[in-house]
Amino acid sequence: MPSFAANVLPFLLSTRTTLAFLSKAPIASLPIRLPTATINAVATEEDALGTTTSVTLEDAHAFIGSTHLRPKSRNLKEVPALYDAFLTGTHPEQSKDELGRGAFVMSDWRKAWHTYGQCDRSITQAEYKKIKSEGGLVVDPFTGEAEYEVEDIDGDLPDDLVGVLYRNGAGKFGINGERVAHILDADGLVLRFEFRPPEETTSSRVKFTSRFVETEGFCEERESKEFTKRGTFGTAPRGLTSLFGEPLRNGLNNDPEGKPPLLSRMAANALQVDIKNTANTHVIAFGGKVLALWEAGMPYSLDPVSLETVGVDSLGLPIDIQPGKFAVNYIPGLPKEMQPEILGGKAHTAHPKICPRTGHLVGWTWAQNPMDGSMEITFTEYDSDGFRIVASDTHTLDGVALAPHDCVLTEHYIFLKVNALELDQLAFLSGAMGPAECLGMDGRAKVRAFAFPRPTLSGEERKKYAPFVVNDIPACFSIHFSHGYEDEKTGDLVSYFSGWPPNDSGSFLGAWGGFCPDYDKIPPTFYWRMVFDPTTKECVDLRVLPGAENICCEHPVVHPNFQTKDARYAYAQCCNAIGDSSAPMGYAKFCLDGSAINQPNLEAGENNDTTDVYWVGSRRFTGEPLVVPKRNGNPEREEDAYLLGLAFDAVKDKSCIMVFDLERELKEGPVCTVWLKTALPHGLHGCFAPDPSVQTSCFC
Ligand SMILES: [Fe+2]
Repeated sequence: MPSFAANVLPFLLSTRTTLAFLSKAPIASLPIRLPTATINAVATEEDALGTTTSVTLEDAHAFIGSTHLRPKSRNLKEVPALYDAFLTGTHPEQSKDELGRGAFVMSDWRKAWHTYGQCDRSITQAEYKKIKSEGGLVVDPFTGEAEYEVEDIDGDLPDDLVGVLYRNGAGKFGINGERVAHILDADGLVLRFEFRPPEETTSSRVKFTSRFVETEGFCEERESKEFTKRGTFGTAPRGLTSLFGEPLRNGLNNDPEGKPPLLSRMAANALQVDIKNTANTHVIAFGGKVLALWEAGMPYSLDPVSLETVGVDSLGLPIDIQPGKFAVNYIPGLPKEMQPEILGGKAHTAHPKICPRTGHLVGWTWAQNPMDGSMEITFTEYDSDGFRIVASDTHTLDGVALAPHDCVLTEHYIFLKVNALELDQLAFLSGAMGPAECLGMDGRAKVRAFAFPRPTLSGEERKKYAPFVVNDIPACFSIHFSHGYEDEKTGDLVSYFSGWPPNDSGSFLGAWGGFCPDYDKIPPTFYWRMVFDPTTKECVDLRVLPGAENICCEHPVVHPNFQTKDARYAYAQCCNAIGDSSAPMGYAKFCLDGSAINQPNLEAGENNDTTDVYWVGSRRFTGEPLVVPKRNGNPEREEDAYLLGLAFDAVKDKSCIMVFDLERELKEGPVCTVWLKTALPHGLHGCFAPDPSVQTSCFC
């Protein structure tokens, strides 16, 4: 799933925004979806605190989730196997024809967005300790802390899978019973799985650790027991509670109440622009540090073993990391003592890269220039030895006010593709809407890309690989790039990414609000190939990867040694094979060498049955995969690696790591499944460090 925290603060001082936005002040309550199924059976649920509640299947969202192609949710009886499985609390027997068509039970999918830790209401530390001593809770609800040896492993854990897997994602969905308005406003939860070498292990080979990232906003809210800062996607404090009342506090695992009245929102949030850094997007390990990333602020540093939060990290850059600083540069010509205190901050991308040739971490910070609507971007390459800065270079992107979510690294270039988004500034400043809610997307506008030489290039190389802009790229909304490379034969820049085809949705991530992603509104996401000619500065090819037609997928990845090379294979989290938008229920393998069967005439709804996909079943959901090289393997062989993917099993109410050996086809299934003691919320990104000293890691 796309994970964007688009930052809009730079617009605040942009002179290009106009009062034309005055005409836009749409305020609508978040819809609470009602089930359409009419099943009369009754199920019971018992929460971790021992409270038993009876719920009808209607209450439990017992229907087949709506999708882009089937926008009305369906009665479970339309898929008898799923209906029977739901009633019996089992996994359905599913044929090859049924899998890959995007059918899922909404109540299952909602569980994937429950707050981590089996407890969605406020309890005291004393209560928690009592419950834990009785074996009731594995996870501390205050800190998200859990630590245990993993004993439940299906299959054989490979001896050459050694290192530490870190994952990050939304983990705590609100405070004191009030759920966030949007899942991407939730607090970050970082996970650590240590895969120990077999020769050093006498008991379990896998140790699991977890913790919430204790950001400034997290600690503030834990103290005050209410939202104190605005979230990027619409979560916000409420005002005038004596007039409009306190929130209903439906519980963190129930539908949010909906937006408070407009006056209440405006009273608490007008001109309040201190957006909460949730540190919930990515986690990388490099140079001895573990960093939780969020793209509209600086990263939080964590203890590599305990995951305790150390604090905001400047990454060795000369930047101000005081709370409340915005990623907006100082006003030119104005003495520093006269500058507004909120200016002078920087934000760091949530998607840096690691160069397989040099081993450098390549990241970038950004800040809006206040007077001309441009953006300043500083690319920095770091050596893993002490996180040392090797080279740094600053550029300006004209007419760009929203930092792209991801970038492409090649041998000589870094490039950024900029999507067509606009901000309704007044709606944000008025407090009526969250910043990302104010983003309008033109899904049919042509877009641009900016290519820059890497900061480590010599003076001569900089002449050869000079910056250039590619205009008039056909409409296509890019989300995550798996990799890119410079074609030795043609000199072209080739890149691959997940993205949406031209569409009229007009809303940027609006459909991700409410309780969980709403697939009837989300365009299907495909895997694309894009080619630039640096000589003519034109986009010479852009299409869904041949062979990947109708494979709806996200989070594409390649072997880490092929990040800047002409990789032969890519892998992705897969939703369905019929060109629909639905919950993720598999992993797909793509052939990039031209050997895939090209099916350009597949209609929406038709099944692509030529792609190698492993479906985990309709009551399990998959997360971002990672390709992890085998210990002592050949880094030049893409197959000499494992694919690790987290999956949530709604029947067991537990999560697991599936391990696929890439010497085999994915559809042969995992060689090993590592089961945790609890469920994990659906996460975003992560990395794998081959050594617990975390000198480096691999990620996409
Ligand atoms: Fe992302």
